[in-house]
Amino acid sequence: MPFRLFHTTPKPKPIFDVLGTDMHLHLIPGVDDGSKSPEESIECMNTLASLGFKNIILTPHFQFPRFPNKEYDIQRRYADLKAQAAEAGVQLNLAGIAGEYRIDTGFQARIDNPQFLCIKDKTVLVEFSLNHPMMGVDEMLFDLQMKGYDIILAHPERYAYLAIDGDRYRHFKDAGVYFQCNILSISGFYGAECRRKVLDIIDRGWCEYLGTDTHNTIYARALVEASNDHTVQKILAKHKFLNSEL
Ligand SMILES: [Fe+2]
Repeated sequence: MPFRLFHTTPKPKPIFDVLGTDMHLHLIPGVDDGSKSPEESIECMNTLASLGFKNIILTPHFQFPRFPNKEYDIQRRYADLKAQAAEAGVQLNLAGIAGEYRIDTGFQARIDNPQFLCIKDKTVLVEFSLNHPMMGVDEMLFDLQMKGYDIILAHPERYAYLAIDGDRYRHFKDAGVYFQCNILSISGFYGAECRRKVLDIIDRGWCEYLGTDTHNTIYARALVEASNDHTVQKILAKHKFLNSEL
């Protein structure tokens, strides 16, 4: 990191109070690539509270074979974490447990025998592979909708193989898929290309939800910086998101 004279750690600004609910976090300890301990989760939650969030819906990865999580086990761990957060005096409402479901080779089986932990009612948060397009995505999304589910696609800006000017994003919007973009994409945490894409997606009116995708305290610290980012502040002031309806 370059040496910066008079560099001070930014203070959290509670600007995310307009969203109210963060609906994308990996804070169930030890079940995916997110938080490693209840202490780390609670530290992240305290930061999120200082940034203005009131409610969080936790979304551990369900990804075959890397994170072979089971819904009943995740629910049990969520209940444990909720009790630990209450005991620690966390000023955030743990409002629900859902999943971030990877559209992978195991996803069709999930559609055929649905046990999804949903963001709300019958709304499922899904993600694609970050690096490789997967065959059969459109058919699986359609099948899921035919079973009565609404779909939120996590961080559409992070799929490097999807071109903003291509027809894929337009196709998903035409198919009624909601988009959840990452706040840290706006502040440049994932790089310049991802930032360019997320600004474009939001500008086109395609982004219904914002999430933090918090995995650990590195993300929490980056969110404090993002709360001081003028572009993030401007977007929150200008655009209406649906987080508060969750
Ligand atoms: Fe995630």
